[in-house]
Amino acid sequence: MLKKLFSKKDIEGAVKRLARSIEKDFHGEEILFICLLKGSFMFTSDLVRKIRNPSRVDFMRVSSYGNATKSKGEIAVTKDLEEDIKGENVVIVEDIIDSGITLKSVSDMLKNRHPKNLKICALIDKRARREVNIEGDYVGFTIEDGFVVGYGIDYAEQYRNYPEIYVVEPE
Ligand code: PRP
Repeated sequence: MLKKLFSKKDIEGAVKRLARSIEKDFHGEEILFICLLKGSFMFTSDLVRKIRNPSRVDFMRVSSYGNATKSKGEIAVTKDLEEDIKGENVVIVEDIIDSGITLKSVSDMLKNRHPKNLKICALIDKRARREVNIEGDYVGFTIEDGFVVGYGIDYAEQYRNYPEIYVVEPE
């Protein structure tokens, strides 16, 4: 059963707030947004539309979960960036931080490519199952626990197209 957690209005408010914070930090400089596929596609698309800085977008895909609800603790890059991020203002856009393994691995990997700045923008920070030390620089919502879907986030590839965010509850 799906229970609504964040409405379209909640999401729009959070995205606007995140965009304003990012703009404030980058003072009109160009930003390269990195959308971590697939979960972040909808969030990235809404976020960049609210950003007034000159912006570019690139995509990266790493795998962690497969179709299960628990992290395997390892990630593999299945689609790398096409842009060279050396000397760039980079913002990683992530839908959800859970164990933190995905973002920690990606940010360590990208730091080695020497961007000028590397920031993390996460729509949802889920605290209960954090396994590694990683924090978002810009966070939309903080939740304790729960399996969330919608607005790009899937359960076994379903629900990504839902415009709102739901928590999956046992029947
Ligand atoms: C999910 C989610 C995050 C990651 C968070 O992605 O979109 O990227 O897991 O989990 P973690 O903090 O425990 O690493 P998933 O690997 O399911 O891929 P998807 O984005 O293609 O759905």
